[in-house]
Amino acid sequence: MHGYRLGCSMSNILRLAVAPLILVLTSATADALDWIEQASRPGPDVLPVGQSRFDQLFLQADGRYRIPYPFGQLIADLEARLDNGDNPTVRGVFVPMGRSLQRDTPAPDYFRYPRRVIAVDGEPVTRGSEAGLVMEYRLFIAHQPKTESLEVISYNDTAGRFEFQVVDDYAAGGSPQARPANRLMCMSCHHNAAPIFSRTPWSETSFNVEVANRLVAALPQRYSSLIGLVTLDAGVIDVLAERANYLSAAQTVWQRGCASSACRAEILRAILQYRLSGESSFDWNSSGFERRYFDELSKNWSRNWPQGLALPGSRLADRNPFTDSAIKIEQDPLLPRPAQATWHTVDMTLARGIIYRLAGFFTASDIRALDRRLLSLSRERPVGDYRYATHCRVQSRNNSIHLLSCGEQTGIDQLQAQIEIEMRQDRIDSMRFHSLRLPRDSNLLQPVVVSLSHHTYRLEIEPGHQSGLSQRLANGDRLESIVLEWDDSLIDGESRLEVRISVESDILDGAIRALHQLHDKDGKSLAAGVFRRQALLQELMPLLGMQPLEWQTPLNGRQSPTRSTKKPIAGALALLEPYCAGCHGDDSRQPPGFLAGKDPLARIRQCAPRMLRRLRAWQPGNRPGHAPMPPPASIAFSGTSAADWPRSDHYRNLMTGLEALLPESQRNSWKTAAYDDLPACFAASDG
Ligand code: HEC
Ligand code: HEC
Repeated sequence: MHGYRLGCSMSNILRLAVAPLILVLTSATADALDWIEQASRPGPDVLPVGQSRFDQLFLQADGRYRIPYPFGQLIADLEARLDNGDNPTVRGVFVPMGRSLQRDTPAPDYFRYPRRVIAVDGEPVTRGSEAGLVMEYRLFIAHQPKTESLEVISYNDTAGRFEFQVVDDYAAGGSPQARPANRLMCMSCHHNAAPIFSRTPWSETSFNVEVANRLVAALPQRYSSLIGLVTLDAGVIDVLAERANYLSAAQTVWQRGCASSACRAEILRAILQYRLSGESSFDWNSSGFERRYFDELSKNWSRNWPQGLALPGSRLADRNPFTDSAIKIEQDPLLPRPAQATWHTVDMTLARGIIYRLAGFFTASDIRALDRRLLSLSRERPVGDYRYATHCRVQSRNNSIHLLSCGEQTGIDQLQAQIEIEMRQDRIDSMRFHSLRLPRDSNLLQPVVVSLSHHTYRLEIEPGHQSGLSQRLANGDRLESIVLEWDDSLIDGESRLEVRISVESDILDGAIRALHQLHDKDGKSLAAGVFRRQALLQELMPLLGMQPLEWQTPLNGRQSPTRSTKKPIAGALALLEPYCAGCHGDDSRQPPGFLAGKDPLARIRQCAPRMLRRLRAWQPGNRPGHAPMPPPASIAFSGTSAADWPRSDHYRNLMTGLEALLPESQRNSWKTAAYDDLPACFAASDG
């Protein structure tokens, strides 16, 4: 995983947590802030462009899905496609009693059919010139074993957004199909159009020992102990979900913060510098970065988002299913949440943060190939180089370990180094850089010693980076060699350190300039639109004379969402259509499809007491036990607002219309009974 700095505004979270609920309902969404994503602006369920990552992995040329089964097999399949060094690639937790749409599906056998959520981490395994698919924090799957179904959230690179899908019939011998989900409905909880996850200590997951114990008790043939069940994966999924959430912020800056291709070219340059440096730095002091990117971003920011821009939160309040058996209103994912981050103006932290986020669109193998290519180009047609030199003094720790201090330790604009040397029988056996600082490069380097060549009174060191890349400076220049020279004894006399740097930034900058010129002709990758790794590499790599990568060709198996045709409803209840049908019009059990089926009126009558309670929950002074409907975060979708809706004629007429449907016995009880004692929206007999 990349070493991003994670932004999380704790004070914001606390402020909202203590705000009275009614304020949250009416004002949190109504301020003048612009939100990067909004539950009420879901966009189309299916786009004409691109594919979800899940489809790229499992959709076949014949339009069918081949999804490994059982779920363990699906995990093994993903593992085979990923490499994360010594760390696991697929991270998973169980959420037997959660807050997702599937939460009541296994009732009452919550622990025998626990929902499992997985997220992936690590680099794609690639062979030869395969481009591979960036998977980490771009694929999230939830499995419900009782109904043999999957919920999927995965990234569409071409569209630059996450797609929501549902897989039914994920069973032995089944023919599973992934269908596009109702995005408006999914986003009524996933306000951020991305994954959501509870905050630490993730008490509703198997990270909670009590939850894990109950799983062991319910599934003794699968789990004999807590080993393997109580892992740190919940924390990793939390971070992966948060990174996934920031993708929309990064895309927004690329697409709307930069108005010109020059600005986007500058972003790309910074990203490549950052990745080539082994994710330690990039040249953010350069005039190009300031003028073409930072200044333009600042200008567009005040024009596009004068009141500021907010990133919706991916983190939900923690909930312990044993102590909070009913979901408390402030834990309900349907309710508005504090922003993950709010930016009123652009500062360097934000401008740089965007570079770190966008940098994650490239794979390690993309960067290794670029690194090698810059190196070989510098040898084919020699580029310039420059050197720095200074003197060193020795401090001996003992007979074999010596510390070389090179350069004045006070000046900042000088070559400085701290090197540990191990001698064996008067010969240098090994050496290690504690630090290396170059003039005009703010970063403290720690090159690894790739090889040492011994000469009389001289030692040549080939430096590298611990990630296997070359050791580069913030601007992309490469540390070519380091030479240590002395007169008669390295340990007892004076020595001199010289660092030689190959000006490969010229090659990189030249390629980016050429890419920008390409843009003026027919280049596409820097055009206004989504940040796309494939488009960028396909144009950039030939400019550096690199072999093209093999990209997976998109398959055309896209399905249009299936919406049942609804019977029109007469009278006041026709108002259900504009305010409820967006989420309750599909023939589903959860949320109840009371506007679907052959006889919607019968379903409405069955559900009316609960509908009334959900409507009444909007009234001020009425501390609701359950989320009001339509959900406050989504209400603008119906063309009204949280402030207007409960005072509107439509609202009153709908209440009256529903009340009129009730039999005498329910006329009062709908108001007073415990919510869970009201008739369920689906009668037990209703298929
Ligand atoms: C009622 C609220 C709610 C709705 C509606 C909802 N989800 Fe979720 N979803 C959750 C919660 C809460 C979690 C995190 C905890 C969990 O997985 O149990 C979650 C998690 C997920 C995950 C696992 C990755 C993650 O975000 O942590 C996937 C995948 C997912 N949902 C897909 C969907 C899809 C697809 C839809 C629409 C069909 C949908 N969800 C609608 C509440 C909801
Ligand atoms: C933007 C999507 C959306 C809209 C619009 C919406 N709902 Fe819902 N509704 C949901 C979701 C999601 C759930 C399930 C919540 C959960 O599982 O916690 C739900 C649950 C409910 C329930 C609870 C069912 C139960 O089993 O207790 C009722 C009743 C309900 N909605 C009524 C309405 C009414 C009436 C309207 C229109 C006035 C409406 N909803 C509009 C998304 C929506």
